[in-house]
Amino acid sequence: MTDTRALRDAFGCFATGITIVTSFDADRDPIGFTANSFTSVSLDPPLLLVCPGKFTASLPCIRTAGVFGVNVLASDQRDVSERFARPGADRFADANWVKAESGVLLLEGACANFACSTMMEVDAGDHMVLIGRIDSFRSAEERDPLLYLRGRYV
Ligand SMILES: Cc1cc2nc3c(=O)[nH]c(=O)nc-3n(C[C@H](O)[C@H](O)[C@H](O)COP(=O)(O)O)c2cc1C
Repeated sequence: MTDTRALRDAFGCFATGITIVTSFDADRDPIGFTANSFTSVSLDPPLLLVCPGKFTASLPCIRTAGVFGVNVLASDQRDVSERFARPGADRFADANWVKAESGVLLLEGACANFACSTMMEVDAGDHMVLIGRIDSFRSAEERDPLLYLRGRYV
């Protein structure tokens, strides 16, 4: 049997950025959650992936919407990361959001924003791998990213 605590610690040795993955529910109200399982995948065609847990409330919304946004947080957006990981929080308060053509919300002041259409879903244990085709994106090279290592922001 896997020692999940030890495995979590081993995974945590890989430094990552932090993203907010957004989409909308059946009423088209915005939903989103904090995710560090973001990976760039392909330049041509432009693809990325994120891994929402099967336990998350966001996953069924993203699957139904068929579109999602990925916002790479800047170093001064730690509060946003914490809010989007906390159950019951008013997650979209206290930050500025703009709507992409698809309806997903993109965060102002982020290092980068991607608006995606779900291209492929891979069932992977307790998570799903969502591969998104990037419909539009923007980045701000001058902003430092928020970093995460061994369970802490750095
Ligand atoms: C730094 C950090 C990274 C996280 N990365 C992920 C992730 O990649 N996938 C995931 O499913 N949850 C991740 N989480 C946990 C979710 O943000 C958290 O469970 C959230 O409450 C889920 O929201 P929902 O149930 O409303 O969708 C992460 C949390 C933190 C603090």
